[in-house]
Amino acid sequence: PLPSRYAVPLPVPPVLKPVRADATTDYYEITARPGLANLVPGRQTEVWGYQGMFPGPTIESRSGRRTIVTHTNELPHPTAVHLHGGHVPHESDGYPLDLISPLGGGSGGAGGNAGMAGMPGMSSATFAPQRQYVYPMQQHAATLWYHDHTMGFTGPHVYRGLAGFHIVRDEDEMALDLPQGARELPLMIADRAFDENGNFAYPALDPSEGRPGVQDAYMNGVLGDVILVNGAPWPVAKVDRARYRLRLLNASNARRYRLELDPQPPGGGALVQVGSDGGLLARPVAHDGIELASAERFDVVVDFARYPAGSSVRLVNRLGSGGTAEVMRFDIGSASVSDGSRVPDQLATVEQLDPAKAVATRTFLFAQSGTSWTINGQEYQPGHSLAAPKLGQIEIWRFITDVHHPIHLHLDPFQVISRNNAAPGEYDAGWKDTVDVLPAQGVEVAVRFSDYAGQFLLHCHNLEHEDMAMMAEFTTE
Ligand code: C2O
Ligand code: CU
Repeated sequence: PLPSRYAVPLPVPPVLKPVRADATTDYYEITARPGLANLVPGRQTEVWGYQGMFPGPTIESRSGRRTIVTHTNELPHPTAVHLHGGHVPHESDGYPLDLISPLGGGSGGAGGNAGMAGMPGMSSATFAPQRQYVYPMQQHAATLWYHDHTMGFTGPHVYRGLAGFHIVRDEDEMALDLPQGARELPLMIADRAFDENGNFAYPALDPSEGRPGVQDAYMNGVLGDVILVNGAPWPVAKVDRARYRLRLLNASNARRYRLELDPQPPGGGALVQVGSDGGLLARPVAHDGIELASAERFDVVVDFARYPAGSSVRLVNRLGSGGTAEVMRFDIGSASVSDGSRVPDQLATVEQLDPAKAVATRTFLFAQSGTSWTINGQEYQPGHSLAAPKLGQIEIWRFITDVHHPIHLHLDPFQVISRNNAAPGEYDAGWKDTVDVLPAQGVEVAVRFSDYAGQFLLHCHNLEHEDMAMMAEFTTE
């Protein structure tokens, strides 16, 4: 049995409280463990969640205040935690071999770690049941998210629920009067398939995690037939006739969406984008629809006062069919309410990276090769770096694809400067950390890595592609 549509209220993940705070730092503790969720009528779904929940609790950081998260692993397999969009040193980046062993999992090589044994760079010292991640938070307000990044097994781990929001706030943004409080909704959109017991059905090549990858038919990524928002199937949110800030995140393993409101309000332009992956845009951009590839975030304001009192509007997916064409519904109240929010014409001062100042141009080809996915013809090899960019200098990175690949860089965001040699679209505006590269396309971005020397990752964020080796390292120096 599948869940019914528009039968459950939209959950909002709880904001995690720090276990302590001092003058410079907020300290958090998170345990990854199995939990149960009621998603399918008459069944319970086992999730793997941060604090046993899917999505995990939301962390809120203040720009400039250090955040330290101690992650404990009570799952039967090793994990690694990546703060997606975080400007963080290598040691805290969730490098796929910096594993947190399962509690009681011992020193590697045995039991649940069997699949990791013998991988280059592994040693028993790599394993510990806990790991402390230090996030300096020297970055602007933005919608980040944290998720699993285990070598070869990111796809199945995220699919089981290891993902949560991490929101960064700063003074400049708070001075803007964007909708806030109950009128700010993080929306984690993810598709899932269920088996007959109500559990998530992931077509792993080897469910015991001895071997990464998925069954042949899923070479292009794992798709589900149920759309979850914040972990609930096709939920309903009751909203006031007022502006809402929706932080849209595509946390699906492989599905792309074109999100629209249905009906569109008179005059269109319902989704007023104020931010992208890396924070606020310089100016708002009104969209009728937003295409969202895996891991991308669009921060939009919707004014439900543009709709009749007491009406309903659905968030739909124009790239889906049947159930996957539906995402969630907003039921608009009939009372008149006050709304002190606004969307100013100038949101932020966004530095433009000048491509003319680039000191290097590098090309990365994302393409299938046999049964794996490669970058420049190579499968991911830990410790083997494809580029050595210098900190503080602008470079141009060109991404060329065979099929769709959402391409993500760790450490720093970038700016899209061209698509197939033409000017980028309005949806490319602002600081991005993941760019949706279409089939047989060439996208150029300007990037400037800063502050932290070390190994970082460049990969496709279709999580099955990532697990099937479409990942590479660069070493900043
Ligand atoms: Cu969201 Cu390297 O990942
Ligand atoms: Cu890909």
